[in-house]
Amino acid sequence: MRINELATFKGKKVVVKGWIKSNRGSSKLGFLNVIDGSDIDGVQVVYKKDILKNFDEVKSVRNFSSIMVEGELILTPKGKQKFEINAKKIDILQEVDKDFPIQNKEQSLEFLRENYHLRARTTLFKSVFKIRSELMFLVDEFFNKNDFTKVSTPIITENDAEGAGETFTVTTIDNNDYDNDFFRKKVSLTVSGQLAAESFAQSMGKVYTFGPTFRAENSNTIRHISEFWMLEPEIAFADKSEAMENSEELLKYVAKNIFNKCSKEIEYLDKYHTDIDLAKRVKDIYKTKNFPRISYKEAIEILAKNKSKFSEKDIKFGLDLGTEHEKFLAEEHFKSPVFIYDYPKDIKAFYMYLNDDNETVAGFDLLVPGVGELIGGSQRETRIDILRSRAEDVMIEEKEIDWYFDLRRFGMAPSSGYGLGFERLVMLITGMSNIRDTIPFPRYPKNIKF
Ligand code: 4AD
Ligand code: MG
Repeated sequence: MRINELATFKGKKVVVKGWIKSNRGSSKLGFLNVIDGSDIDGVQVVYKKDILKNFDEVKSVRNFSSIMVEGELILTPKGKQKFEINAKKIDILQEVDKDFPIQNKEQSLEFLRENYHLRARTTLFKSVFKIRSELMFLVDEFFNKNDFTKVSTPIITENDAEGAGETFTVTTIDNNDYDNDFFRKKVSLTVSGQLAAESFAQSMGKVYTFGPTFRAENSNTIRHISEFWMLEPEIAFADKSEAMENSEELLKYVAKNIFNKCSKEIEYLDKYHTDIDLAKRVKDIYKTKNFPRISYKEAIEILAKNKSKFSEKDIKFGLDLGTEHEKFLAEEHFKSPVFIYDYPKDIKAFYMYLNDDNETVAGFDLLVPGVGELIGGSQRETRIDILRSRAEDVMIEEKEIDWYFDLRRFGMAPSSGYGLGFERLVMLITGMSNIRDTIPFPRYPKNIKF
């Protein structure tokens, strides 16, 4: 049985297997706080010298050692916890060595990052990763309820979907002779499942893909990692507004429902983060009636009026918004998630639908407080000639993705979709300010420990 199931066993014999979180006592009586991953608070175990044969051994055992407890569950209505276990027997399964680095006192995030294999022992990281797990279920639930089909798009691929030249090559040889390589061509880890998702949207209507994506982008920032998870829905017959609408509904759905199973974790994180009111931040997401939507040009006007606040002051059409601009818009100006749409074509990917003005594309980003860009999406270019010339501009050869061009010849309906960076969603909901603290084993430039 797990600790979170104990409440139903009152007065009965129970067996708990877990780890010691804390251990205090006197010469005759001791108290353990035992955790097993099912409940953030764990359970209190009372042990007595006249009952336990190995009382002295238990009394001196170190925190985080694994144990098995047999005892009786007794109700303690006046206590902080409504029940505790009166131990009849405690087996120490394995004691931790003296040099075990994790302690109950608060340890720096940098220190914990040197111990990725152990940091989930802390209440902080257990909370973060519990929320991460629950968010994964919730996004699947959202798309499932909304009649989307989940498509598993490939991890090893021939295409650089974003055309940004940030792919990791996958090879089994140690020279560049890709013609004789495993796949007889140069292939890489995917940067996005979008192109493959588009092909499935053209028969199944509403699809999404959710999996790891990889970018050899030399960005050593608190918002970038080299291996991250991306959630990418693709909706046939939808324009960019409908894609924005869907992403807003998704975000509201997860923000609201995360409290069902993770309220204790959010409460813990709220106390941990003294600088933000986390519960309010999360609740504001679903309480905001409509996320504001402004065009890129309007965003530039707002930013230009606030020039003095930025280090990049050359604010005019064509500027690729930096983190400082994105954070200003979401955190200070709108104080809410905000959509920016119709970006200059030169700063966006080749597959975005070219607007009639010939200088902007029907793409959008969603910027959120505390994170900046959470989502990037667009309506897709369905006109083959325009797609061809946009691909040429960024040096993508049609033969590399001839199948993608095929879609534009074989009855393609309008299509729109977006990509949500899953770790950035975890940042938003947990309040963690460094993306490296939102994925169990982060990979980033010059670092792939574990
Ligand atoms: O804006 P991006 O590059 O868009 C795409 O890849 C499209 N193919 C999506 C689509 O339309 N289907 O990436 C989407 C999101 C970003 O908004 C960001 O949240 C996240 O992916 N992202 C990263 N997250 C962590 N580390 C990185 N290096 C990231 N690069 C992008
Ligand atoms: Mg983007």
